[in-house]
Amino acid sequence: MIPLIKTRMPEPQRLMPVLEQVLYSGYVAQGEKVELFERSFESFVGAGHSLSVNSGTAALHIALILAGVKPGSEVISTALTAEPTNVAIKMAGARIRYADIDRQTLNINPASIRQNISDATSAIMVVDYAGVPVDIEGIQEISRNSGLPVIHDAAHSLGSRYRGRRAGCHFPLTAFSFQAIKHITTIDGGILQVADKSEYDRGKLIRWFGIDRTRTRLENNIQLQGYKYHMNNVNAAIGIVQLQDAEWIIDRHIDNGQYFDRALCGVPGVQVLNYYDGSEPSYWLYSVLVDDRDGLERKLAEHGISSSVLHRRNDLHDYLNDFRQELPVLDDVYPRLLHLPCGWWVGAKERDQIVDVIRSGW
Ligand SMILES: Cc1ncc(COP(=O)(O)O)c(C=O)c1O
Repeated sequence: MIPLIKTRMPEPQRLMPVLEQVLYSGYVAQGEKVELFERSFESFVGAGHSLSVNSGTAALHIALILAGVKPGSEVISTALTAEPTNVAIKMAGARIRYADIDRQTLNINPASIRQNISDATSAIMVVDYAGVPVDIEGIQEISRNSGLPVIHDAAHSLGSRYRGRRAGCHFPLTAFSFQAIKHITTIDGGILQVADKSEYDRGKLIRWFGIDRTRTRLENNIQLQGYKYHMNNVNAAIGIVQLQDAEWIIDRHIDNGQYFDRALCGVPGVQVLNYYDGSEPSYWLYSVLVDDRDGLERKLAEHGISSSVLHRRNDLHDYLNDFRQELPVLDDVYPRLLHLPCGWWVGAKERDQIVDVIRSGW
């Protein structure tokens, strides 16, 4: 079976010595490796300050707090995402106001964001779904005009670019996830990329109980609500080795994604996505809209190819559906959405096989 998602570990000869050294160093908590991972990630992204955490969800939660989201306020978000995007909004005590999506990209539609802004709005959450960048300029403009902070959930879009710059460079707060099946994994973990240094320093306090680690415990006087969200040296050590392979992994995803864009364009029953001008997806998954989605999923499975819609639109969860809004574009595309395998494990033979099965009809 060609899997839809797959965990990748660097070769044991490279990973195990690094891991072994950390495990038996006598210091497995947050220390030098975490520091090194953060600085390496900053170089990879090319801007901002990397705050490592123990999950992408933790990164989103800290981002919402730094953005000033208060209990009872509303955060505009998308329902087409993994649940953590919206669960994090609830963790901050806010209510979720869904904007509809753009049918070309499946990402949050800036026009719908504008329609949903009210006095209760405290922030806007945007997600590069499946690795496709959001309308970065459109959303930056909304933020400029409304004064609302934007939180960029880039859990799916490590290495994607907009006008040559990587995800992590476009908004003040960007969350990445290194959970098991992402482009790179630290087993579990994440990074909040923070543009502003003083916000980054505040994020450090929130990350670890509100305690300032540059002082002794006895010198500390906690002033804010913190959490136990820090990354440890073991996960960071894995991250350091994973990051060495990130360019290669992302290039494989992009090469496959661009191949599918060309090969599936114009195939009867298939609608490929369009991307915003200047944006380069990093194709965590390959998303298409297809007629008779279940039929194609079955046919692909018969040929040893796994495909799936993967995520339940989040407004179908009662707990994540605060306002019971109408989302006509999402209603239209969701029954036709299918994700195809597109990652580093899909080689030339496999991708041809996927295209041949689809072209042969279902
Ligand atoms: C879009 C999106 N946001 C946030 C997360 C949360 O990441 P994590 O699982 O590392 O908490 C995930 C992954 O699960 C995700 O897919």
